[in-house]
Amino acid sequence: MKALVLSGGSGTRLRPFSYSMPKQLIPIANKPVLQHVLENIKDLGITEVGIIVGDRGPQIQSVLGDGADLGVRITYIPQDLPRGLAQCVSLARPFLGDDDFVMYLGDNMLPEGVERIAEQFRAERPAAQVVVHKVSDPRAFGVAELDENGRVERLVEKPQHPRSDLALIGVYFFTPAIHEAVDAIEPSPRGELEITDAIQWLVSHGAEVKASEYDGYWKDTGRVEDVLECNRKLLDDVSSSNAGEVDAASTLVGQVVVEPGARVINSRIEGPAIIGAGTVVRNSHIGPHTSIGRDCELTDTHIEYSIALDGATVSQVRGLRSSLIGRSASVGPADHNTHHHRLVVGDHTRVEVAA
Ligand code: G1P
Repeated sequence: MKALVLSGGSGTRLRPFSYSMPKQLIPIANKPVLQHVLENIKDLGITEVGIIVGDRGPQIQSVLGDGADLGVRITYIPQDLPRGLAQCVSLARPFLGDDDFVMYLGDNMLPEGVERIAEQFRAERPAAQVVVHKVSDPRAFGVAELDENGRVERLVEKPQHPRSDLALIGVYFFTPAIHEAVDAIEPSPRGELEITDAIQWLVSHGAEVKASEYDGYWKDTGRVEDVLECNRKLLDDVSSSNAGEVDAASTLVGQVVVEPGARVINSRIEGPAIIGAGTVVRNSHIGPHTSIGRDCELTDTHIEYSIALDGATVSQVRGLRSSLIGRSASVGPADHNTHHHRLVVGDHTRVEVAA
């Protein structure tokens, strides 16, 4: 079995970060989302992975390389414009050949994994097996209607009046039967070839399509709030380790990871938290639920429930919360002689200042 990971989307909901990096490289617990995805795929015993990439492909490639570090072999498959998940299957046809495959959206996090579902697919080999999850408002998703045996009777993409609360959550298992379906469908009203429509085509033509419920934690990391919440969830499961330097005037409370070369000076780190490699934390209070990337500098700062990306600098700012600070961004105090705030913020940036 092979894997097809979709990472071509532009990530408009994650601006400004997605201006300079593909959303699939946003770090959760200091690891890119896409790396979490590939680790999940490896856990299924799959090593041949095709990744669909758009114009940010070179950045993804420079982070993941040929996949050897993660124990997989990656083939990059370029897509010029995002024209739908089903179009990705067509583009990947030469890579997929006539093998069964799992298709995985590169910005979806299912930390509990889908091993049980993969085993079931391998044993029964229905034409398609979709992974579903109960959600409170299914209108933003593909929605599955099932019979009592878990067979899919109908699938609808983003219905106004959903007839079930089971959303498709970005992981699909397919036999080569999907290729005929992908060739047969027409673009949807949003102009995309929908994988939901291709699977519905299989159902309508009498093929067996099953659904399995994933009842673990699931997050589509499409928005800043989702990224922070997912970071919080993953940090809850880290165990403490210290490969850096923590001086005697500092306190670490709860699960705290201090990566190699990081220095903690006269500070309090309240876990769960990660201090990235090469980062210096001085006279500060970090955490809980905070991931600080590599080579950051935090001085006289209190930051919680936040993520700072590599190279960020924060000084003399207390009370930072629910913040996502970009690579090499700098947050600090105004000049001594002024009572004014001074902002140099990029396009589609959001700044919320406490009154
Ligand atoms: C896509 C699929 C949808 C699925 C969702 C999961 O939607 O079309 O069926 O429920 O991913 O994240 P999109 O993110 O393209 O709107």
